[in-house]
Amino acid sequence: MSAITYKPGKQPHPREYRMIFKNIDREGWDPSIATYIADGGYEQLRRALQMDPKAITEEVKKSGLRGRGGAGFPTGVKWTFIPPNNTKPVYLICNCDESEPGTFKDRYIVHQDPHQLIEGMVISCFAVGAHTAYIYIREEFPEAAIILENAIAEARAKNFVGPNVLGSGFDVEIHVHRGAAAYICGEETGLIESLEGKRAYPRIKPPYFPAALGLYMCPTIVNNVESLCHVKHIIERGGDEYAKLGVPRNNGTRILCVSGDVRNPGYFEVEVGKLTMRELLYDICGGPKEGREFKAVIPGGSSSKILRCDETFTLRGQGPDGTDKQISFWDIPMDFDSLAACGSMAGSGGVIVMDNTRKMSWVLNNLNQFYAHESCGQCTPCREGSTWMRKISDRIVAGKATPKDIETLESVAYQIDGRTICAFGEASSWPVEAIIAKYRDELLAETSEANEDLALNPEAEAQRRFLQEA
Ligand SMILES: Cc1cc2nc3c(=O)[nH]c(=O)nc-3n(C[C@H](O)[C@H](O)[C@H](O)COP(=O)(O)O)c2cc1C
Ligand code: SF4
Repeated sequence: MSAITYKPGKQPHPREYRMIFKNIDREGWDPSIATYIADGGYEQLRRALQMDPKAITEEVKKSGLRGRGGAGFPTGVKWTFIPPNNTKPVYLICNCDESEPGTFKDRYIVHQDPHQLIEGMVISCFAVGAHTAYIYIREEFPEAAIILENAIAEARAKNFVGPNVLGSGFDVEIHVHRGAAAYICGEETGLIESLEGKRAYPRIKPPYFPAALGLYMCPTIVNNVESLCHVKHIIERGGDEYAKLGVPRNNGTRILCVSGDVRNPGYFEVEVGKLTMRELLYDICGGPKEGREFKAVIPGGSSSKILRCDETFTLRGQGPDGTDKQISFWDIPMDFDSLAACGSMAGSGGVIVMDNTRKMSWVLNNLNQFYAHESCGQCTPCREGSTWMRKISDRIVAGKATPKDIETLESVAYQIDGRTICAFGEASSWPVEAIIAKYRDELLAETSEANEDLALNPEAEAQRRFLQEA
């Protein structure tokens, strides 16, 4: 194809490095296999099929690729967890649930460049020895599911999928499975249960680590859409060359989804860690809206801990000669390790920005509403705790909370954290812990000792409302 140009108003920012999103919003691009092949598509699959499957895993390990679905676990290392003496079928699952609030990248890949994903999946299946793969796609993406089904049919017609792929003797089939429309279906073990036709109740780890005991109790690799797309580029460049992108231990590119109170929200593919928070929010996203100031950022999807824009952090051993280094919020490099060192996480890449018009009680309540609604209900601390947290924050925003409510809320959050079957427990409690720790005074200012009567005596509240309405 000719030189790459993008549709009017969709130009990537000069600070971007487009690899996975190279074809998103591209002029003259469409999701057909003809367009993909004309651009060199499926050439890396041809190359990979000439390689030893173990050598592919080795390249993925060398690349340093870390999962883009949330936890940032090294992809190549995960692939090696399949038991070496395994005799059962191996499955690959592409997690296309994209349910973490603030995240909107996987859907663009599927809508505009589905063959990039399919090529990455077939190479990954070959590497891990999987002959059956599933794309678990959230029910709310009906059009995307049809696009994928059509793309798989196109790939099958060209022998990139199906029996004896490109005459290599390797057979693989990919199925699209529509999800059950719940946040917990994105958690890998809940997803597996749902794929098996059951309610998406997460399994306890150990023993149910999917790489050993996954779908139908067989070894199963679950990877995010974006992670699987990277595999093709790792084959193209070689693991060592790929690892030169980004910063040490945080290699490659990643797509940051910026939403909220910035002038230019959107998706931006950047080299991991090559950009600071200031560069992202000011240079790329254009700074705060007219007359406003940045207040806080949730850097990696709604489950990550909030960061105040006026905070400073101590990075242990990262100064000269292993000394500690102080950095401000604005100088945080946007990578896995730096965000973790600042007490939050890079998560799914969903950067949610809040300015000084946002009340933290509202933010807290908004998050609590979501998590209380989405808890699967298996574990008591999560089921009861998430609803309890929502009820307390409902009271705060309604102006009916007491100072003691903030203490109770904090205590409920800490009693969920670390005491549940799956990481939803932390996902729901970390935001609460961080918002209270960092905005306690603001929250307390919305409470009143005078509300004590209401808390102790709900009938008094009913009576007050009755008198008001009378
Ligand atoms: C509550 C919850 C929701 C999740 N939702 C998603 C999701 O929508 N998409 C995703 O890729 N990973 C999600 N994850 C992470 C997956 O469990 C899993 O770690 C990931 O799919 C692995 O892929 P990766 O190694 O390529 O990142 C979620 C995790 C939790 C705890
Ligand atoms: S932590 Fe919450 S979402 Fe996860 S299994 Fe327990 S109840 Fe379900």
